Amino acid sequence: MQVLVLGAAAGGGFPQWNCNCRLCLGVRRGELAARPRTQSSIAISSDGERWLLCNASPDIRTQLAANPELHPRKVPRDSGVAAVLLVDGQIDHVTGLLSLREGCPLDVWCTPNVHQDLSSGFPLFPMLEHWQGGLAWQSIGIDEAHLEATFEVPACPGLSFTAVSLTSNAPPYSPRRGAPTPGDNIGLLIEDRRQGTRLFYAPGLGQLDDRVRGYLARADCVLVDGTLWHDDELIRAGVGQATGRDMGHLALAGEDGLLEELGALPAATRRVLIHINNTNPILDERSEEHATLTAAGIEVAHDGMRLKV
Ligand code: MLT
Ligand code: MN
Ligand code: ZN
Repeated sequence: MQVLVLGAAAGGGFPQWNCNCRLCLGVRRGELAARPRTQSSIAISSDGERWLLCNASPDIRTQLAANPELHPRKVPRDSGVAAVLLVDGQIDHVTGLLSLREGCPLDVWCTPNVHQDLSSGFPLFPMLEHWQGGLAWQSIGIDEAHLEATFEVPACPGLSFTAVSLTSNAPPYSPRRGAPTPGDNIGLLIEDRRQGTRLFYAPGLGQLDDRVRGYLARADCVLVDGTLWHDDELIRAGVGQATGRDMGHLALAGEDGLLEELGALPAATRRVLIHINNTNPILDERSEEHATLTAAGIEVAHDGMRLKV
């Protein structure tokens, strides 16, 4: 399978429009060894022609323009984006649907929880009905009784998708913010049945247990939550009050941090971080933290990165 990283930053992007933190300021001024990044989205394909957009970022217009694989090719109205899948209902993962309205009707895969939030607090589904019938919901059946669901996406022949219930958080506008239930956040184990290879994608990973560790351990490549280095990083940078725990993102550093978890994976696993917040020092390629990752064999995703799994 082929993977395009369209946007490797967390909500807000890098630099964030209103942020004056050391890293945003440095990259804006061109004084930092760091690349700007747009907000969280990847695209997956089994044939290089039809792509499943995993998360529709507010930066989608720039992202589509930057990736020729997604450009129209055949008929007067066309796109490489054949369908969309949402791992949660967060602003940075769903707002791009508004910009895809000219391409409706459009298949959108998500759980009942996400569909419910996007039909009430942030009513993208009912709103977009006014554009050629809107979004055609394809349900990913994860709920209290089913912590995983396996399905196939017609646009990606040869790939099997397993949605995995994760503990992270529901969006701030959701009635389940602070008390998420199964279906608010998923990770994806995607298997290429012809190659026998697997990718695990989880941009929002708040907590790991042995069930979730099992999915990571089965993957040839993990593309996972690199939001924060320290749990209290936003507070330290003076830009917010929320901890990683509050937001549903397990920090990289520290005891039981994500770095330790990644270190326990089989040696051959390719490890790539995505959904990097603009306060995370790993964005600075000359930082100590970036060197720590390099020494551990962990990569930091950037816009335009291409993975073959
Ligand atoms: C998150 O991942 O926690 C959210 O996307 C943050 C946000 O942008 O509101
Ligand atoms: Mn996010
Ligand atoms: Zn910043």
